[in-house]
This record gives sequence, C-alpha cells and structure tokens, in this order.
Amino acid sequence: MKIVKGIKKKNLEKARENIEVIRLYVRLLKDFHQINNNNRKAKLSMRKNIKRMKLYHHPERIYNELGIAGLKKDVTLKIEDISQYDQYHYLGTESVDEAIRGLTIDATTKVFDVGSGVGGPARYIAEKTGAYVTALELQPDLNATAQSLTQQCGLTDLVTHLCGNILEFTEEDYKYDALVSWLVFLHIPDRSSLLKKCNNILKANGKMFIEDFYKRGEFDKEELRILSEDVYCNYLPTLEEYRVQLTANGFSKIELVDMTERWSVFVKERFNKFIENRERHIKVNGIEIVEGLEDFYQKIVGLFNGRKLGGVRIVAQKE
Ligand SMILES: C[S@@+](CC[C@H](N)C(=O)[O-])C[C@H]1O[C@@H](n2cnc3c(N)ncnc32)[C@H](O)[C@@H]1O
Repeated sequence: MKIVKGIKKKNLEKARENIEVIRLYVRLLKDFHQINNNNRKAKLSMRKNIKRMKLYHHPERIYNELGIAGLKKDVTLKIEDISQYDQYHYLGTESVDEAIRGLTIDATTKVFDVGSGVGGPARYIAEKTGAYVTALELQPDLNATAQSLTQQCGLTDLVTHLCGNILEFTEEDYKYDALVSWLVFLHIPDRSSLLKKCNNILKANGKMFIEDFYKRGEFDKEELRILSEDVYCNYLPTLEEYRVQLTANGFSKIELVDMTERWSVFVKERFNKFIENRERHIKVNGIEIVEGLEDFYQKIVGLFNGRKLGGVRIVAQKE
C-alpha cells in the first residue's frame, strides 16, 4: 500500500514538473513574440521617423530637374548630368574624390557604401574608378530612385543596390576592401553595433572613409529638439569620444579632419542660393517640396551657427 502511495506521489510530482516546463515554454514563446513584435515596430518606426527629415521627401524630385534639362527617363545619363542633384552630403563630388584618394580606390577595389541615398556617391566612384560598389540604403523610395538612376547611367554591372538597415546587414561572409559613408552615422545612436558591423564588412587592413556630425559643445533644448525631430539625430559623440569608439571597435591609423568651417560656409551658401532661386524651384518642384527643403536647409544653417554642431571627415583602418 505504501509503495502504491509512493508511486502516486512521484507521478504527481512528475506531472507538476511537466506543467512547470510547459508554463516556462509558453512564457518563452510569449517573450519571443513580444521581442519580435518590438523589433518589427522599432524597424517600422525608424523608417517612419527618418522621413521627418524633409531632405528625404519625394526623392523622385530629381526627375523634375533632369526633365527641365531635357534628360527624360529614356535618355542615357552621364554622371556629370546628375551629380549636382544626387549627392545628399556637403561639398558634392569633391568629397567623393577625397574618399577615392584617401582609400586609393581603383578598378580592383570592392567598395561598400553605407546609407547610399539616391546612389550619387556609389555611381560616381564606379564611373571614375571602375570599382565594384555595393550600396546599402534604408529607405525603400530612395533606394528605388537610386536603382533606376544607376540603370539610366548604364552602371548596373558595377553598382549593386540593396535596401536595408546596416545594423541588420548579415551578408558578412563577403568582405570588402573599402567602406564609405556620408552623413549616415548621425542617424544611428548605437555606435558600438554600427562600428562592429563596419569592421566586420571589411577585409583585414581594409579602410573606411566617413563624413559625419560631431558634438563641439552642449546643445540647448531647442537645438536638441531640431536635431531629433528635423534631422533624426539623437546622439552625437565629441571628436575624442569618436576616436575612442573607433579604437574600441577594431580601427587604427585614425585620421580626423575637422570640416566644421567648410561645412558652415557650404550650408549657408546652399540656403542663400536656394532662396534666390525660390520661384524657379517652385516652378520645377512645386511649393510643398520647396517649403520642405527651405525649412530643412534653414535649420541646418541655424545648427552650424550655434557652433555646437561640428563636421568631421574620418579615415581609419581595420586592425
Ligand atoms: C544624408 S543621407 C546621405 C546619402 C548618401 N550617403 C549621399 O551622401 O548622397 C543619409 C542616408 O543614410 C540612410 N540611412 C540612415 N540610417 C541608415 C541605416 N541604419 N542603414 C542604412 N541606411 C541608413 C538614410 O536613409 C539616408 O538616405
């Protein structure tokens, strides 16, 4: 009788244990779904929030400019035809020439472009050097415009466009000789993950060229609001912090060039020229696009005038 009771007790304990295991599985499954949901929401909100930056509205507006210049969609485009419209950074192709020189890019170089926008720098590098360029862009509409312009330039053999987030880039088996990135890092607060990704994409001794914002002084409340809401920029390191982060994530031979003065002049000239030609721009692009760009250009001038926003050009090597 005692033995039967003991067996019953043991079975009961086993059943309780099994129920606990099942409960644990259910909880893990729920957590897993929650994490997946949160990740999906974060991704969607990143794509949605970055669109607050008015530079990224209507990327297809480049066709309005090309149309006015008599370059319809069926015409083969030359790089010179579009380079004044497709560079979403400062100093245009002059800065891309610096990258070509700094990283000694030639026809044998495999280049990875992080945050390629409508593809201006990637096409320019491919056309000037014959290098093979993989261009990764987060926003699907910018990427689609990039793809169609690359096709129109006859550069599809050299430039491959991918749409996605650099933080989720997983095709890291294929390594690149050089990595370039213009005004992209400012959108990505998680610098450690970002720099680790960049490091992983490069071959041993591969080099990287970045242009980015940095923090020169403490921003006031209004500047922080503009940076966050109009520039989608929620974190900036100082130059010293930048250097430390690069070193901590496997980069050496770090060269930092302060671009603040040149960029301050550039953004002021860009804004003044835009205002001077306002009527012309309205005729070409319509009032909504013009008001959006005017507001964005003006806010960037305000930030540089405040003297706490800085610009930096970085060349560094994977250890
Ligand atoms: C100021 S634009 C510069 C575009 C291009 N580099 C150029 O100079 O013409 C910054 C670009 O980075 C892209 N971007 C931002 N965060 C990204 C991310 N996590 N992954 C990939 N691209 C990103 C934006 O969508 C935007 O097109």
